[in-house]
Amino acid sequence: MKILVINGPNLNMLGIREPDIYGAETYRALCARIEAFARERGVEVELYQSNHEGDLVDKLQAAYGDADGIVINPGAYTHTSVALLDALKAVSIPAVEVHISDVSAREDFRRVSYIRAACIATISGHGTKGYLEAMELLLKEAGK
Ligand code: DQA
Repeated sequence: MKILVINGPNLNMLGIREPDIYGAETYRALCARIEAFARERGVEVELYQSNHEGDLVDKLQAAYGDADGIVINPGAYTHTSVALLDALKAVSIPAVEVHISDVSAREDFRRVSYIRAACIATISGHGTKGYLEAMELLLKEAGK
């Protein structure tokens, strides 16, 4: 089983950006934690981050026939991108939406998620451990 973990804009700035909201863990440290978890659970993982919407669409398309599950935190594109929704629908791979912060308790515009409709679950406000919870959910979904 292979899981693709996709992060959108500004998530490479974790540890630096608004630590009161997103915590002190760096993107690099998060990636290491995700890789360690994947090793522990015997699952292959690929990590991808981009600040560009089209690159994220390309990566989702490339997952077709390659990944069995997707964990996606599209950052601000969550609230704007029909293209990411369409890409997730196009590949039809089980996907879990993750937000480090509790988007339902912040500005009104963060309550809208375009991709939610193409995801089997949303994990929001659990900090960076939400990524591991999402992977666990995909493993359970796949009967692992
Ligand atoms: C975020 C929430 C989004 O509203 C924001 O634009 C982000 C990060 C989160 O992980 O909490 O970049 O997706």
